[in-house]
Amino acid sequence: MRKIVTATLLLTCLIPFTECGRETGTIRVDSPDKRISVNFRLRGGVPFYSVKWDGRKVIKDSRLGFRFKDTEPLNRNLQITNSQTNEFDETWTQPWGEVKDIRNHYNELVINLQETTAQARQMKIVFRVFNDGLGFRYQLPQQENLNEIQITDEETEFYLAGNYDCWWIPAMHWNRYEYLYTKTKIGDIDTVHTQFTMRAGEQLYLSIHEANLTDYASMTLARVGGTKLKCELVPWSDGIKVKGATPLKTPWRTVQIAEKPGDLITSYMILNLNEPNKLGDVSWVKPAKYIGIWWAMHLGKYTWGSGPRHGATTANAKRYIDFAAKYGFAGVLIEGWNTGWDGDWVKDGDQFNFTQPHPDFAIEEVCRYARSKGVTIIGHHETGAAVMNYEEQLEKAFAYYQKLGINMVKTGYVGHGQTIKRLDENGQIQREWHHGQYMVRHYRKVVETAAKYHIMLDVHEPIKDTGIRRTYPNMLTREGARGMEYDAWSPDGGNPPDYLTILPFTRLLSGPMDFTPGIVNLFYKEYQPRNRVNATLAKMLAYYVIIYSPLQMAADLPENYEKHLNVLQFIRDVPVDWEETTVLHAEIGDYLTIVRKDRQSDDWCLGSVTDEDGRELQTSLNFLDSARSYIAEIYCDAEDVDWQTNPEAIKIEREIVNRDTSLLLKLAPGGGMAIRFHAVEQAAINDFLKSDSD
Ligand code: NOJ
Ligand code: CA
Repeated sequence: MRKIVTATLLLTCLIPFTECGRETGTIRVDSPDKRISVNFRLRGGVPFYSVKWDGRKVIKDSRLGFRFKDTEPLNRNLQITNSQTNEFDETWTQPWGEVKDIRNHYNELVINLQETTAQARQMKIVFRVFNDGLGFRYQLPQQENLNEIQITDEETEFYLAGNYDCWWIPAMHWNRYEYLYTKTKIGDIDTVHTQFTMRAGEQLYLSIHEANLTDYASMTLARVGGTKLKCELVPWSDGIKVKGATPLKTPWRTVQIAEKPGDLITSYMILNLNEPNKLGDVSWVKPAKYIGIWWAMHLGKYTWGSGPRHGATTANAKRYIDFAAKYGFAGVLIEGWNTGWDGDWVKDGDQFNFTQPHPDFAIEEVCRYARSKGVTIIGHHETGAAVMNYEEQLEKAFAYYQKLGINMVKTGYVGHGQTIKRLDENGQIQREWHHGQYMVRHYRKVVETAAKYHIMLDVHEPIKDTGIRRTYPNMLTREGARGMEYDAWSPDGGNPPDYLTILPFTRLLSGPMDFTPGIVNLFYKEYQPRNRVNATLAKMLAYYVIIYSPLQMAADLPENYEKHLNVLQFIRDVPVDWEETTVLHAEIGDYLTIVRKDRQSDDWCLGSVTDEDGRELQTSLNFLDSARSYIAEIYCDAEDVDWQTNPEAIKIEREIVNRDTSLLLKLAPGGGMAIRFHAVEQAAINDFLKSDSD
């Protein structure tokens, strides 16, 4: 591990001051490669920052500061008391991930500000500038005139230098993060979620997000005129944004900057802005593939609640366990196993009991049977967003699962925006958003409680990922976007063909997603006559490489996989823990090809997807190890395939390749391709050549 830390104290005398003590000069900090430069300055005592990339302005002078309830804002009458720059460079290793080693290399600028008024309150602003973007955060030190605080507004602005193209989902709406992305100009947006991704003209891509969201409200972006965006924190029910006390650190406000869209995908800056692993030995955290009693509920074949079609029965669970054992899946998720599903669980999650199985589900017997087959049960805590009910049972619920040998739990918070029940200090019911400080605290509490019981988490209807998996490696994956389930029942017909050419540049930049891919039976008219998968079968396989998640589901019904064993083979073979990730082709909204190297072997996998247009993409295999021989197992769209009219025809071929091979990827309209480059010994190549010539 390399680690360099250097610090320079720049005394205030180095900075030009006006006679009234208000500094007008600029303090600049550059990225290590000098391509990104961030300028901080006070204009009449008001703090501003701006950003340039290769000398080109990308963020114009943008305000910084706070407004509070019952006390003066902290956004003006400021002077710089001192500032300091540091360089930091170290490489750290992820316990699991999309890449093994991550370089954390930045220049830091710490600015200490103080009010020139009688209150003389202090505030620190810390900038970290990396080669792939910047992050900055506020720190409010403990001080006499700033103790208990109620933030009514964080005034951070992002004043974009042009009316760039952007991809966004709306914020502060009922369906949380589950919207299709819209592409417009910045000037046409209202209030949006992050990640918020932009194309700033030729060869320049930006994405705004946040890192290390801890005990604070999450940030959305509101357009306040022209191309100026402002941090709009998700409020508590009483309108306050953040309640706390000094010392207080905000999350990092992040702007990823890349020349090519694919470089956004391989930027790990958000992880770098999180703290190192707090859990110590995490050898109990293991990436895995799983199946589940799940898609059948979304199709309507089974129910979560009791009755003749109840999915989570002992017999059914054993059938799924047998399938998992036969085909090598580590886990079986069982939803609808506990009481509370009967009735309107979306409205009344208070009924959920997390230690009481349905009478037709013998949980101990199911876990014993699973163990005997080398399979683990994945537990399920759907809360219906009744968070108080869940918190009351939290310790008991995790202890219960731990006793049963269950070390992975999927949680869920189905419930409309701003309907989460909270009892306030006066015993009155208040209604909260999923993304305000109340819920940020809750989601963190669940991660910490799960860790105590050595349980890994997969959170649905989550708070957005801001990289805390670095600190809590049991926080494996989450949903936080429209997943595969929309293809089962969405009245709008499901996720359109270009969806997976946008999601990797938006939601997926923030971290792993439990998309639950792998539907191989693309039509299910008998259950959902108006829905289908809007993709080709080969594209379904590409998702396993395109979407990074250490926990990947093979979501279809066992009986459907039994009819498609040749296709299932790729899902069985594809790894979920990677050493390297490289983007080969990328255009947001059009196409994407990613290759990833397995952590446990010399195998590589490729996934390529296109929107509704067919394409041919030439690919060099120079990422392969020159010392190894490979058999490429290729799963591609057959001739005449089209997602609309003929999506199911798939061609599966094997070919000997090496790093000098060039492959032409032919993607059908709405199609895709998946390849496993299996590193083999010469004997296997000889056998292959022999069988080929027979
Ligand atoms: C929504 C989740 O995304 C889905 O996976 C789950 O099956 C349902 N909630 C029920 O918990
Ligand atoms: Ca969901």
